[in-house]
Amino acid sequence: MSLLIRNGRVITAVDDYHADIFVEDETVSLIGRDLEVEADRTIDAAGRLVIPGGVDPHTHMDMPFGGTTSADDFETGTRAAAFGGTTTIVDFAIQTKGHSTLEGLEAWHEKAAGKAGIDYGFHMIVTDMEDDRLWEMRRLADEGVTSYKMFMAYPGVLYVDDGTLFRAMRKAGEDGTLVCMHAENGIVIDEIVKIALAEGKTAPKYHALTRPTRMEAEGVHRSIAIAEVAGVPVYIVHLSCADALEQVTLARDRGAQVFAETCPQYLFLDLSHYDHDDFEGAKYVMTPPLREKWNQEHLWRGLGFGDLQSISTDHCPFCFKDQKVLGIDDFSKIPNGGPGVENRMSLVYNGGVVGGRLSVNKFVELTSTAASKLFGLFPKKGTIAVGSDADIVVFNPDRRETISIDNPHTHHMRVDYNAYEGTEVQGVSEIVISRGRVVVEDNVWHGRAGGGNFLKRGLFGGPF
Ligand code: URP
Ligand code: ZN
Ligand code: ZN
Repeated sequence: MSLLIRNGRVITAVDDYHADIFVEDETVSLIGRDLEVEADRTIDAAGRLVIPGGVDPHTHMDMPFGGTTSADDFETGTRAAAFGGTTTIVDFAIQTKGHSTLEGLEAWHEKAAGKAGIDYGFHMIVTDMEDDRLWEMRRLADEGVTSYKMFMAYPGVLYVDDGTLFRAMRKAGEDGTLVCMHAENGIVIDEIVKIALAEGKTAPKYHALTRPTRMEAEGVHRSIAIAEVAGVPVYIVHLSCADALEQVTLARDRGAQVFAETCPQYLFLDLSHYDHDDFEGAKYVMTPPLREKWNQEHLWRGLGFGDLQSISTDHCPFCFKDQKVLGIDDFSKIPNGGPGVENRMSLVYNGGVVGGRLSVNKFVELTSTAASKLFGLFPKKGTIAVGSDADIVVFNPDRRETISIDNPHTHHMRVDYNAYEGTEVQGVSEIVISRGRVVVEDNVWHGRAGGGNFLKRGLFGGPF
């Protein structure tokens, strides 16, 4: 099967030119002007950007959490991702405390195999890591799981202590893998939560008010300090505020190998979303919580200046009616997480490129290339080059859509609300190609459950 994409404006993290792209089977095989080749199918991309498929390095499909399971599984979640122009996700397998991480990996392979419609990898969420288990980390790396996530938050659930962090970080350094940190001081936050509940403060907004930015900044500072002492790089996930960003900037300025992502919810949504007398604010109960709006310009600056390298979604949807309602009488029981995997590319293009904050190249870097490099997928993923996987999006930079659960062009996620309801965006993924196959065209799904491959990722290759 071959595919010719003609007349498009090809954008990568560093290129911007008009050319034709010839794809044979799963791979880009030729790029040039006015290619004289026969193809099984030709797509005319005149007036369109031709960009690498999005890489979202932070999703939670089919994740047991908060007494329930995230609403998108690997089939519905990856299909929705594809509709939005994302062709690779890196999701999180979870180690059950006291059990092998390898068992956790097997369980997540079972969840994803035969279901994922686009390519996917796994990080491993480590919940304990005694000395006699450290050998598993090398095995995970051999299996293509070359990054871990550890939590300073959620005591009694996913939390690990600083000793565990240090042990696992040292081993990651030896193996050449990368530790991702959920950096918030969960121990102090739990005390603040207890006080709030004792005072009868049970509404969703107290989720945000009990998680001060200082406790995120402290977690960022501490995880970086531990990584520095361990002599390893560290990647901060879902960074939400200026206070935490300052810690990343300070560390990078002194030469520490620190990388960080933020997410669309922290760029486009804010604390005012909790200002409801009813339970509506539960839709935005996620961790870290939404912050005061002024933080957003700091995050954009961090992205522009390179202190934040990537924009992931932390897609972890829970239905408002059936799942968020678990916390109707107590905000601390609202399942934490929100949807977004489908809307990331359009939101970032609109807010970044149309909004005059990012170049088109930077847009590609933040939504695809950087994550691909950080997580051992480059250059198969994250760029358009001869030999790369043909994960390509034909992107209409002029088309506008209003994001809504009622707009069939913007919502395929299996969740009963859209966090960006009513947001108008300019820039829409129109044709989405995953390893040479058109999986989305004219807002119709042409992919298949099981069409996505598990990606054995390479070792950490930074700094970049
Ligand atoms: O609220 C969130 N972020 N839920 C998903 C789990 C996590 O901490 O990433
Ligand atoms: Zn987290
Ligand atoms: Zn997450």
